[in-house]
Amino acid sequence: MDQQITNLDLDLREEIIKLKKELNASILAHYYQESEIQDLADYVGDSLELARRAKTTEADVIVFAGVHFMAETAKILNPNKTVLIPDLEAGCSLAEGCPAPLFKKFRENHPDHLAITYINCTAEVKALSDIICTSSNAEKIINQIPINQPILFSPDKNLGKYLIKKTGRRMLLWEGSCIVHETFSERKIIDLKLENPSAKLIAHPECEEHILLKAEFIGSTSKLLKFVQEDDAQSYIVATEVGIIHQMKKARPDKVFIPAPPENNCSCNECPYMKLNTLEKLYLCMKNGFPQINLDEELIKRALVPIERMLEMS
Ligand code: 13P
Ligand code: SF4
Repeated sequence: MDQQITNLDLDLREEIIKLKKELNASILAHYYQESEIQDLADYVGDSLELARRAKTTEADVIVFAGVHFMAETAKILNPNKTVLIPDLEAGCSLAEGCPAPLFKKFRENHPDHLAITYINCTAEVKALSDIICTSSNAEKIINQIPINQPILFSPDKNLGKYLIKKTGRRMLLWEGSCIVHETFSERKIIDLKLENPSAKLIAHPECEEHILLKAEFIGSTSKLLKFVQEDDAQSYIVATEVGIIHQMKKARPDKVFIPAPPENNCSCNECPYMKLNTLEKLYLCMKNGFPQINLDEELIKRALVPIERMLEMS
């Protein structure tokens, strides 16, 4: 049967609200989702806030409007709940660039190192790690590690380099990166700054060092959002995925938010994985109870340990 439907056939918004009640479901959405999905969600947040929300929700079904590693984390924290994701192919270049067998070798080659791993990784890589972190809590977690303890930081080398600077810790880095945060053009940002001299450049720490060096504020998605709400500037050049601008505009309709431009004339500042989730797929996954996240029980047990450590330390 052809599952294609159009917005004309059904009022998808209404249908999703109905299904939410029927299933006792909670929709958790990341800031990089389409604005129509963010507006329907019960909760919109960054990776850390979404993991916390997934742990405490009383809903029977978690509908995760985000990417696969985020939905997996929700399942690890709630093995007895149904976790749905609109599109199973919604991956992440960081998770894909860090396959578990290679990560296992990386660890074996450095047996005295503690593995602190960014949440943007698969459940298998989480299970092989000592502590998980997000861009919101990484600095706080690293600062709690004894100074003489060597650290492996995976899989984002840009975030890793930024954290080395912030904490003064030497860490061995996995050579991974985010395809979205690596596209920003320094040249075009400089031009934008010349055209808008009072606009502040704000950036996610997954950006490359040369962009971060120019940024007036660096933080996770929720920290960027908080910053623009409290800061006294009137305009910002936003160097992260464009989806966050929806919440920025909602919070401060009086301010101007300019997406940092990519080098090519493409929409590379949109995460192609996040954008696989559409309102239509959100509706279909709730209606069909599929796609679901299913993980091996043993894997859940092992991956839970470093996630719980993160939640305790942050
Ligand atoms: P945040 O934890 O800042 O929301 O980051 C998630 C992410 O995937 C950034 O690209
Ligand atoms: Fe992964 Fe980058 Fe997309 Fe975030 S923006 S989900 S890090 S590919």
